[in-house]
Amino acid sequence: MSIDSKPVPKDISVIFVLGGPGVGKGTQCARMVKDYGFVHLSAGDLLRAEQNRKGSEFGELIKKYIAEGLIVPQEITIQLLKNAILEHYYTKETSKQSKKFLVDGFPRKMDQAITFEKEITPSKVVLFFDCSEDIMLTRLMERAKTSGREDDNIESIKKRFKTFVETSMPVVEYFEKMDKVVKIDCAKSVDEVYEEVKAALKNYE
Ligand code: C5P
Ligand code: MG
Repeated sequence: MSIDSKPVPKDISVIFVLGGPGVGKGTQCARMVKDYGFVHLSAGDLLRAEQNRKGSEFGELIKKYIAEGLIVPQEITIQLLKNAILEHYYTKETSKQSKKFLVDGFPRKMDQAITFEKEITPSKVVLFFDCSEDIMLTRLMERAKTSGREDDNIESIKKRFKTFVETSMPVVEYFEKMDKVVKIDCAKSVDEVYEEVKAALKNYE
């Protein structure tokens, strides 16, 4: 039986990690993985990997959406996340580690939030990393020197900010109404932000 026809397991837990581009989600997730043994799944990384996979029928479409800072149709992203979860769950050793997932940069649009929680699992908590656009821009321009990402240029960045405000913030507000959001101030240093993250995770470990 191929992995993607296996059932979605009931004993997984998912934490969503949201926040604007360049806020530091990836950096904080790497620390959480090290200290807590989460599996880190970045929706953006999964999309870039699919874009570069030889023979992918979605490669061109993903490239276009990413360059425009637009949200890729949910079917694609949810399938990639689901496959990654199933692969970790069923093929890596079934220790506790492969059941706890940090889903980073997702959901970025309301339809993704609703479909994922209905078809995969409701999130336990939403970590929302927050800081000003000025700071995010500075961090992105610094990252652009080494990231090799085609969307780390000023035109794409402006579009990504616009999408974040118009399309992704409503998702944060939706989870806020459900009392699921822990907001973390990311204007501080990486270490200071991580202290807040650890405090937030105390309630969910
Ligand atoms: O999170 P990251 O900055 O790596 O995302 C890069 C791009 O991938 C986004 O600007 C968007 O075009 C796409 N993306 C998406 N849906 C997501 C996450 C990322 O369409 N949930
Ligand atoms: Mg990232």
